[in-house]
Amino acid sequence: MCGIVGYVGKQSAAPIILEGLRRLEYRGYDSAGISVITPDGLAMRKRKGKIDEGLAKLLKVQPLAGGLGIGHTRWATHGPPSDENSHPHQDASGRIAVVHNGIIENFDRLKDRQIKAGHHFLSATDTEVLAHLIGEHYERQRAANVIPPAGIHPLAHAVMEALREVIGTYGIAVVCADYPGVIIGARRGSPLIIGVGDGENLLASDATAVAPHTRQVVYLNDYDVATLTADRFTVASLGSDTAQVQISQLEFSPEAAERGEFAHYMLKEIFEQPRTVANALRGRVDLEDGTAKFGGLNLTTAELRAIDQIVITACGTSWHAALVGEYLFEEFAHIPVEVEYASEFRYRNAPIETDTLVLAITQSGETADTLASLRETRRRGHKVLAICNVVGSTIAREADGGIYLHAGPEIGVASTKAFTSQVTALTLLALHMGRIRMLSLNRGRQILQALEAIPAQIERILGQNATIERLAKKYAGARNFFFLGRQYNFPVALEGALKLKEISYIHAEGYPAAEMKHGPIALIDDTTPSVVIIPSDAMYDKTLSNLEVVKARKGPVIAIATEGNSTLAKQVDDIIYVPATLEPLFPLLAVVPLQLLAYHIAVARGCDVDKPRNLAKSVTVE
Ligand code: G6P
Repeated sequence: MCGIVGYVGKQSAAPIILEGLRRLEYRGYDSAGISVITPDGLAMRKRKGKIDEGLAKLLKVQPLAGGLGIGHTRWATHGPPSDENSHPHQDASGRIAVVHNGIIENFDRLKDRQIKAGHHFLSATDTEVLAHLIGEHYERQRAANVIPPAGIHPLAHAVMEALREVIGTYGIAVVCADYPGVIIGARRGSPLIIGVGDGENLLASDATAVAPHTRQVVYLNDYDVATLTADRFTVASLGSDTAQVQISQLEFSPEAAERGEFAHYMLKEIFEQPRTVANALRGRVDLEDGTAKFGGLNLTTAELRAIDQIVITACGTSWHAALVGEYLFEEFAHIPVEVEYASEFRYRNAPIETDTLVLAITQSGETADTLASLRETRRRGHKVLAICNVVGSTIAREADGGIYLHAGPEIGVASTKAFTSQVTALTLLALHMGRIRMLSLNRGRQILQALEAIPAQIERILGQNATIERLAKKYAGARNFFFLGRQYNFPVALEGALKLKEISYIHAEGYPAAEMKHGPIALIDDTTPSVVIIPSDAMYDKTLSNLEVVKARKGPVIAIATEGNSTLAKQVDDIIYVPATLEPLFPLLAVVPLQLLAYHIAVARGCDVDKPRNLAKSVTVE
């Protein structure tokens, strides 16, 4: 949610920042802007609209020269997308510029005070208030000849003093015309990293923006305030006397965050799934003992055995993966599971018993509600394990242990490969929990063998891409869609509906196939297609009855069925086959055609698949 890039070094800053912003555009894309310290002072360019349609065109006509600058790509919170509300924002003197990701909650009180003191504002944003606040502290310091504490740069000192007055969340980058070689960065609640270069340093919301320039990064912690020059960086803390600084190596290559030959990131990521599922399995399969092994759970077998309840918190697609996990833990390990929306859980006073394991599932590791749930749970003295994709993300660092997905950067706003990797990790964890309880060796081995076959089976489903594209064109005009499934495939129905809503703006509902008759069936008519997930499993006959009920009301049906079920083809309008697997693993396969269907419908409708309206990839505000 909002992307920030800063650069200081020998190269021209603007093109590097622009390229970094393009790489972060999935975080927000309603406007973008850059400030550079040019030989003539602080200069700014900003425009409403996506980067290539707005800012990039402006920079072609009005380029910016200089080796230091900051940039921002926005997902609006305060004030609608407009040129004025785009970042950067400046202080009253026009010498300081600020870009910001997050929300300043007490901005209206600060703004009232500033207006009374004679300040004028050009935008409706909370960020402009912060810029003015930093400017006020800076001017006050200069007027009083304040000498900052040893090792703290005067601009960093003004930023720190301003942030002490602020309630809310922020990842910020600040520059000042008086210091043409210095960028200040600070974070609380919104991610920020330093890219450590050779004779140059970068600041960014996430590693994808710095990956082309350096493999060395520092993940800043909450309350850190960083000072960057071309040759060095220092980090102070607002919360304690010293900041913890550790340089980490990036684990992915810059190419991993590129689209390659694919038309969209989403399509690329759907096609990556044979590899990403294999990555989630790699090193974790113990066929001999019919179980899974993990390096980072940080819990002993005795501690895992003592667990008698699991609570999973997550948002969006990760929440759907959690729902699949609920079925898996109950089936393999007989452990009761509660799946909670993180945004609800964090404000409830839900009792958590001593032997409850709390899991947080998140692709980005930065989702504000999931992070807040984790912090609240840990504050109460419980351990939290994270199932997370982004290495070094806030949730990955604050959890007591967990499982990395190793799926590589997911750039498409609609999550795809993260879902299958999350379900793979959950399957392994449920299997492990089952094997230290009552699950038999043979059953354990059977599950692992079936899991190892999944990547090749996904590959076969991807081979039907052209067929699914044709199908998508047939249904692209529908205004409403249903997605129906039972048991393991109920969460898949929810996920299929979410994918379609997110990128094609078609109203879609996911429903348990049998629950449909208690209301939503009233909406079925010959213009409302239903996608029914109907594997040849123990629930087949029951799901078939639910399907018949839809057909009897003239609703078109697209079935997702198991290969070899030729009878069903005659009973439905269209059918997509997926290979046979164990019942609990079917979601890993069934979701793939639903991802492709949503993708091709969105393309057929002319939607911007990778930048759907109103959405952001990583939601770092409440
Ligand atoms: C946003 C994204 C979704 C994602 C959700 C949770 O809403 O648009 O695709 O599933 O956040 O994100 P997380 O990174 O925590 O999995």
